[in-house]
Amino acid sequence: MSAESSHPDRSSRELTKPVTLRSLRKMMGDGHPFAALTCYDATTARLLQRAGVPILLVGDTAAEMILGLPGTIHAPLDLLIQLTAAVKRGAPNCLVMADMPFLSYQVDEVEAIRNAGRFLVEGQADCVKLEVDGTFTGLVSQLNRAGIPVIAHIGSRPQQVKHDGGYRAAGRTRAEASRLVEEARRLEEAGATMLLIEAVPCEVTEEIVSRTSIPVIGCGAGPACHGQVVVTQDLAGMTDWQPAFAQPLAQIGTAITKLGEDWVDRVSSGNLGKHPYSMAPEAGRDAGSGRDAMAETSSS
Ligand code: KIV
Repeated sequence: MSAESSHPDRSSRELTKPVTLRSLRKMMGDGHPFAALTCYDATTARLLQRAGVPILLVGDTAAEMILGLPGTIHAPLDLLIQLTAAVKRGAPNCLVMADMPFLSYQVDEVEAIRNAGRFLVEGQADCVKLEVDGTFTGLVSQLNRAGIPVIAHIGSRPQQVKHDGGYRAAGRTRAEASRLVEEARRLEEAGATMLLIEAVPCEVTEEIVSRTSIPVIGCGAGPACHGQVVVTQDLAGMTDWQPAFAQPLAQIGTAITKLGEDWVDRVSSGNLGKHPYSMAPEAGRDAGSGRDAMAETSSS
């Protein structure tokens, strides 16, 4: 059964036309805030497109959410490219933003352009996201020149975890705040298509929004942003801890645990429902063992 037919309740919000960077700029201009969610698989992507979520971020948080690894720096490049393609297949009308993982763009510009290009060509992504500071303006303009739209992720940068000794908020001192505002301006000048700001005080975001003219997506950056992104598993109540700005809207974790319990009970009680397969008529009642007869029918 296809996922389509198992979810007949189509939403009136389903995205029926592709979301583009141009349509997001229009939403920004119209003062219409846009939602973004992380997504790492085709099934969830299909449901989120149906819900009308315009942006799906194939984040390097896949390392934690999908692979169970201790941090985003462990996200494998080839896997992220595959997951990006899966998300685009599931949600062809969502704008798919691919996260470039640790060491896929920091080593040198040539390698960075090639890897970013793989996300667009093999992963069918619409744009790539890079965790950057002011030292990356050259790379941002090279990618831009190559035709690769770049989302500049500033503020808290989880790929810097070893420097910072953990995930931490950014821009909390005056000096850091002014540095962030300056970086945002320079990254826009270098050709960044959007900014993504993570974990900064609201005042800093407001200053960045007022000093730049490209869409700004926030992840714990306050209401001044044009768009907001969170990790879907947090919002779905599937993680054991969620940041304050991503409080669960559903309890899918509890539902899956219950589903597991119920299946264990069904299996142990032998209550499996109707069995849909019977021997083909020509196999007859005395056509040898069931296994032989099934092999015969499947090869015929
Ligand atoms: O990888 C990711 O999921 C992210 C978001 C948390 C912004 O970068």
